[in-house]
Amino acid sequence: MTIVTLPGDGIGKVVLEEAIRVLEEAGFEADYVEGDIGWEFWKKEGNPLPERTLNLLEEHKIGLFGAITSKPKDDAAAELDPSLKDKGLVYSSPIVGLRQHFKLDICARPCKTYKGNPLNFIRRGKDNTIEEPEVDVVIFRQNTEGLYGGVEWSNPPEEVYEALLTHPKFRKNFGDVPKEEISVSTRIFSKKATERILRAAFEHAKKYGYKSVTLCEKPNVIRETSGMMFKMAKEIQKADYPEIELWNTNIDAQMMWLTKNPENYGVIVAGNMFGDIVSDGFAGLIGGLGFACSAQFNHDTGIGVFEPTHGSAPKYADYDVSIVNPIAMIESACMMLDFIDENEIAKKIRKAVAEVIAEGKVRTYDMKKMPGKPDVIEKGAASTQEMADAIIEKL
Ligand code: NAI
Ligand code: MG
Repeated sequence: MTIVTLPGDGIGKVVLEEAIRVLEEAGFEADYVEGDIGWEFWKKEGNPLPERTLNLLEEHKIGLFGAITSKPKDDAAAELDPSLKDKGLVYSSPIVGLRQHFKLDICARPCKTYKGNPLNFIRRGKDNTIEEPEVDVVIFRQNTEGLYGGVEWSNPPEEVYEALLTHPKFRKNFGDVPKEEISVSTRIFSKKATERILRAAFEHAKKYGYKSVTLCEKPNVIRETSGMMFKMAKEIQKADYPEIELWNTNIDAQMMWLTKNPENYGVIVAGNMFGDIVSDGFAGLIGGLGFACSAQFNHDTGIGVFEPTHGSAPKYADYDVSIVNPIAMIESACMMLDFIDENEIAKKIRKAVAEVIAEGKVRTYDMKKMPGKPDVIEKGAASTQEMADAIIEKL
């Protein structure tokens, strides 16, 4: 089996290398080929996601992704190689590009409490007691449509503007705004993709014994898209998953309940934007970016890309000794193992990670609640490599 490694930029390169070391030490046998992706290729070639990288993934199906750096349109244009400037090249995020190119429409983001993680969320209970709720949630985020679908305009073309004017609410609320001053980002949901994410969520609940699936949208206000999703969720639950409860929460209320009763939730399903938001919210309860892993895949093609949800953290990228936490990346590699049915190796690695965290001897700077500076190592924080070493030792 061949894995396409996509290190990308900044700390993406560092954590990916450590994850591969852990995979190898855990007995996972594979070849690795590296795919070019990220800022370097934007600057040099005017394309952060070269065709050859797409071909590699098409061929080998499984990608392990570090992180990339993205910058706003104008900053990106300014950093292009002089020979590429003024050619009308427009930067767009290669990770969003990957999702859309391969229709990786299912994104799964588990957030599970590790015992002994000093970053776990705690809450005050009755009689001033301190409670540490055990979170075990998996967020299923629709990954290709909605607000991230890319259908948007500023000063929209005439025919788009005319079409908008046919809507009474547009005439009423925006009719007196000059066209040049209008920006539109659309939120388009298709029935097919909505059904796929809902079914993926219910299937996961069924397979792993979660008692509920919570739809986290806003159907009372966003009537068409969220409304359609809620209606379909009810139909699918009734027809095919009567043993699983369907709960319905609004994204805003959910963000509040997050800290009140996070232990009550199991599988959560949402559209692209709200899924992104609610998964970061839950990630905060289990230790934040150093722990937040994700999988994005399409079962029809068998293509899957596995990545931590954090970015390239440029401010830590050039440290002589890397200080960032590799656990999110290592956990993402475990999700890859699950996807390719190497469950035993995944279990072994997760157990090793849990043991290191519970033991509490080896902790990266985030786990020690230190500000991220080069001196954290001499102050007792583990480096990225030392954390991986500790996990390997447990293996
Ligand atoms: P970031 O996730 O790179 O970093 C934010 C902060 O989180 C860091 O400064 C650090 O304090 C902490 N952090 C991140 N990863 C950590 C780890 N493994 N261990 C310990 N602490 C960690 O987000 P930021 O700074 O907003 O973005 C930096 C760049 O990354 C931007 O260019 C952004 O566009 C890109 N990005 C890429 C993503 C991807 O590749 N999927 C996702 C998010 C951002
Ligand atoms: Mg996000």
